[in-house]
This record gives sequence, C-alpha cells and structure tokens, in this order.
Amino acid sequence: MVYVNLGENSYNVHVDGDLLSQVGRVVKQFGITKALVVTDSNVAPLYLDQVMCSLCEEGIKSDSLILPAGEIFKTVASVELIWEKALDARLDRESLFIALGGGVIGDLTGFSAATFLRGIPFLQLPTTVLSQVDASVGGKTGCNLRKGKNLVGAFYQPISVLADTKTLLSLSEREYINGFAEIVKHALINSSDLFCVLENNLDKIKRRDLDLLKDIVIKNIKIKASVVQTDEKEKGKRALLNLGHTAGHALEELGNYKIYYHGEAIAIGLVLACHIAWQKRLFSEENLDRIKNLLTKLGLPTSPKEKIDPSIWWEKTYSDKKLLDDTVYWVLPNGFGEALIGQRVEFAEFVAAVESL
Ligand SMILES: NC(=O)c1ccc[n+]([C@@H]2O[C@H](COP(=O)([O-])OP(=O)(O)OC[C@H]3O[C@@H](n4cnc5c(N)ncnc54)[C@H](O)[C@@H]3O)[C@@H](O)[C@H]2O)c1
Ligand SMILES: [Zn+2]
Repeated sequence: MVYVNLGENSYNVHVDGDLLSQVGRVVKQFGITKALVVTDSNVAPLYLDQVMCSLCEEGIKSDSLILPAGEIFKTVASVELIWEKALDARLDRESLFIALGGGVIGDLTGFSAATFLRGIPFLQLPTTVLSQVDASVGGKTGCNLRKGKNLVGAFYQPISVLADTKTLLSLSEREYINGFAEIVKHALINSSDLFCVLENNLDKIKRRDLDLLKDIVIKNIKIKASVVQTDEKEKGKRALLNLGHTAGHALEELGNYKIYYHGEAIAIGLVLACHIAWQKRLFSEENLDRIKNLLTKLGLPTSPKEKIDPSIWWEKTYSDKKLLDDTVYWVLPNGFGEALIGQRVEFAEFVAAVESL
C-alpha cells in the first residue's frame, strides 16, 4: 500500500493481484451505502460483474454506466451522461462514483465526481498499466474539447485507489507496453534503481509476471506520489512529470491521435529530450544509448514512423496549453534519476535532436 499524503485530501493506493473482489469491503469501510460504477464497453464484459457482485455482497446499492471505449469519448457529453445517470440513480453527496477502467474512464469519472452536486467522493479502479502507474494517482481529472486534449478539468483526489494487477493480463500487447513509457519516464526523473529493475527483468515484463508487476506499479506510484505531494496543483516541481511530453504531445497531435498511442509518442519524446540534454552536456552518450536500448527492448518506438519536418514539429510544441509567457519550457534529464524543469531549448538543438532519431 502507498499513502499519498495530501493533507485532508490524503488517500491510500492498494496494489495487488485480486482487489476487484474486495471493492465492496473497502467501500463499506468508508461508510458509503450507494454507488455508481462507470466503465467502458471493453472493460465491462471483463470485470463489471465482479465489481457489482462485490458491492452487492456488502449491501451497497449500486448502479452502473457503460460508456463507449476510447479517447474520442472523453467528452463533455460523456460527463453529462454520468451526471444524468447519477441523478436517475438518486445519488447524493454521501454516495460514491467508482471509475473502473483506464485513464479515460478515470479522468471522466473523477471530473464528474468533482462537479456533481459540487463534489462527491470517487474511487479509482485502474485497469491499464498507464492508469495504474500514472493517471489514477495525483488528482488530475477532466475531459477533452474539440480544440484540444484535457482542456477542461479539475484537481480532485479520489478517496482511495485499488490497482488490481491481474486486470493487466487482459490488455492487448500494444496497450500493455504503451504504459511502460511513463514507467521509463519515472525512472529517469527519480529512480535509477527502477531503471535497473526494468533492464534486468525484460523477460518477466513480457510474460506479465504478477509479482514483478506489483513491485513495478508500487515503485511508480511512490515516485508519482512523491512529486505530487510537493506540488499538488502543478505550480512548480510537478512539471517534472512532463518529461518527454513537450515533443510527445506535439507528435500525438501531428498524428491526429491515431498514429501513436500516448506512451509511444512519449517514448519518442523521451529520446528527444535525452538527446537535447546530451547536447547540453546534462546527459552522457552512454546513458542515451541505455534509454534507447531499453525502450527498444520493451517494444516501444524511439523514432517517428515517418520523417517529420522539424519546423512543423517545433511549431506544434507551442500549442500546449501549459505555455507560460509564450515560451516552451522543457523538462530535461540531468544524469540518471534526476531532471530539471524550466529549461529553454533552441530551435537548432531541437533540429539536431530530431535529425538524430
Ligand atoms: N489524470 C492523469 O494524471 C493522467 C495521466 C496520464 C494520462 N491520463 C489520461 O489517460 C488516458 C489514457 O489512459 P489509458 O491508456 O488507460 O487509456 P484508455 O482508458 O482509453 O484505455 C485503453 C484501452 O484499453 C481498454 N482497456 C482498459 N482496461 C483494460 C483491460 N484490463 N483489459 C482489456 N482492455 C482494457 C480500454 O477500453 C481502451 O480501449 C488519456 O485520456 C490521458 O489523457 C491522465
Ligand atoms: Zn503521459
């Protein structure tokens, strides 16, 4: 278990192989008697019954809502469906929203919880690698607008997170590996030890060894929690978590969110950031090779599928909503296990890095 220490918004993250069957027991401990489980059309046939049974066994009156799966449904319209279902089910401020699924369902349900009746509790049951190691912890919730991703949202912490590692066994290979880009990112910003665990256990990772996955998820949540605890609302240090995301987000957007999964774009963004750091003498060539090797061995890309004009890519890095004073500030690794925020990058440095891919 990992304790996320955020004052009155603190909570526990439980990580284990058979947690979905214990949801009812955990919810009961909070004295909650009514819940709405929100999930998607891929996850529902796999895990919804198990969660509903567990809630029913503890006498918790529960309804469910199944949204269509996919990032394109991370919309205000889906949030509205959740609010309406909650009203139909007569939920009140003492009731609970439960997010059962990946980052899309977590972000949507969290945002709906933050805003329904001006805020009701919510519980996260993340079922993808990405949502277990990243999205379910830290309280960022929200949805997309036509003009861009995550443009509407709230910082709103769950009452608890149950990360059931067994759910990772049903992910497609591409979805499973996708989540490892954020893991490599965490290792780069905070833990050379985690980096070695990844390098030394590639076979077990591929085999989805549950003991190893539990260990990896816990290590990642500890890293994410340690960053979020120092800066819950991203006024400073939390920006460290954006390593690889300046170029990565731009790449995702260039591909219209169809060509790259988030983690794939971030993997390429990480290589780019490391290359720029190498040019600035913050990172050794040997480390650069280690990163590329690990990503490749994991099955993640280290260069774009097609050649991209660096000017167009550079331009896109400016469309990130987090721009301060019209400057793009990069996060760059500073050796292994440490990173620097607020770094300026020259266009020429960016071009050199893109051409090295
Ligand atoms: N809140 C945050 O801090 C934060 C951080 C990172 C990412 N995100 C958000 O998370 C989203 C990406 O998360 P994601 O990659 O989990 O996407 P996702 O929720 O779309 O899940 C990916 C796919 O896997 C399916 N799926 C989920 N669990 C499954 C399982 N156990 N077995 C089989 N299929 C399963 C889903 O139906 C979906 O098709 C993005 O919207 C991103 O903006 C949020
Ligand atoms: Zn990310």
